Amino acid sequence: MGRVVLGMLGLGTVGTGVVRLLTQQKNLTLKKIAVRDSTKVRDIELPCPITTDPAEVLEDPEIEIVVEVMGGEQPALDYIRRAIDRRKHIVTANKEVLAKHGPELFEQARKKGVAIFFEASVAGGVPLISTIQKGLEANEISSVAGILNGTTNFILSSMEEKGEAFADALKQAQTLGFAEADPTNDVEGFDVAYKLCILSALAYGRFVKPTSVFRQGISQITPSDIAHAREFGYRVKLVGSTRATGDKLDVRVHPMLVPLTHPLSNVSGSHNGILVTGHAVGEIVMVGPGAGQMPTASAIVGDIINLSSALQLPDFASYFQNAIETEWADTAPPGDWVCPYYLKFSVSDSPGVIGQIGTIFGEHNISIQSILQRGTAEPGASVVILTHAVRNSDMDAALGELTGKPFLKELASCIRIYEPPRDGAN
Ligand code: NAP
Ligand code: HSE
Repeated sequence: MGRVVLGMLGLGTVGTGVVRLLTQQKNLTLKKIAVRDSTKVRDIELPCPITTDPAEVLEDPEIEIVVEVMGGEQPALDYIRRAIDRRKHIVTANKEVLAKHGPELFEQARKKGVAIFFEASVAGGVPLISTIQKGLEANEISSVAGILNGTTNFILSSMEEKGEAFADALKQAQTLGFAEADPTNDVEGFDVAYKLCILSALAYGRFVKPTSVFRQGISQITPSDIAHAREFGYRVKLVGSTRATGDKLDVRVHPMLVPLTHPLSNVSGSHNGILVTGHAVGEIVMVGPGAGQMPTASAIVGDIINLSSALQLPDFASYFQNAIETEWADTAPPGDWVCPYYLKFSVSDSPGVIGQIGTIFGEHNISIQSILQRGTAEPGASVVILTHAVRNSDMDAALGELTGKPFLKELASCIRIYEPPRDGAN
């Protein structure tokens, strides 16, 4: 491999890890790093000058590869566009930009004859993207599902294993460098939604608009949900999935109760765990660090090395981008989904309440699998119900009807339960 000159945008958690790994690569020269604040004390000995003027990276003719690790939609998007316009190859960890603007950027890159590498944008250090793009190329993929956010998995694991409060666990995830600059992106499921858009493009050749992804985060999950889940043989996980259903894609992220016997339930801390189903290979499971400085840097520097080697190939850009299409997909409506549910109600403790809930459920084709009632400190009771598989639209209708009943004080929780995929399930 000949000497390749790089420029970088951003020197935060991930950028610092990239610099650390690049010092071990003798054919790769990092020439300049653009940051927001050049006076900040850095956690690393700088191998090259830093600047607050991105043009010093974007306009330098000697720089062949721009590594974008600043994050966020803007100004990252403009900088990537400018770099591609100057025929520079891109290595990025930015799922937001790719999810929102992927078709346009890949088209621009194709026209300019440059490549965009993005292994770090999904599942951190787990080589999921290259596995789908290359290793599973012979397959028709029907489903990619799993735990795709390290921060939320870390929070849920800390709440369950150490009894930590949500806010404390989140603070720790931020300190450890797992969380996005705005952690709402992690906690409310936006980060997973972006990753699912990218995975849909890779698995099915169609992009999904982030706004079309059904999204629920974990901010409503309470320690009591986690304890009840455990009592019934489950663990609460934030699960993202993209599945092919006819000519539509079913793409969603929401919390789920995952059976303790399922591999995803044992993916803990900041790890990610992903199940990919292909018609030839069957189901594969990938588990590993989904966030953090060095795992993410591993993915980025892997991309840089692959890209630098590929620069020797005559038609490398098309070789590396053949799995990316620029079409948009339609998504399946949530009303058709079928899965079991965990529900927690706060009710008045009076005769006939359980009977009325059962009657309304029966009228909406909902069959109860387990039920638990506990008295509470205040007058009233807490009722936890696990249902058999039910249509999303039936559950919505039943909950709508229950909401009007005088005995119902609050629908405290409504969480789907994970079942292995079957037609229309989960
Ligand atoms: P970070 O720690 O917040 O670092 C962001 C860096 O970008 C900082 O160095 C900052 O400069 C620089 N920056 C921000 N805005 C800028 C601007 N307008 N002009 C120039 N520089 C600017 O973020 P991170 O955790 O490293 O994440 C970077 C990217 O990697 C994001 O896209 C994220 O989603 C992705 N990612 C992160 C992880 C992870 O575990 N952290 C894992 C996978 C993917 P200053 O240092 O001067 O403030
Ligand atoms: N904030 C992200 C996470 C970083 O926690 O998974 C990795 O994409």
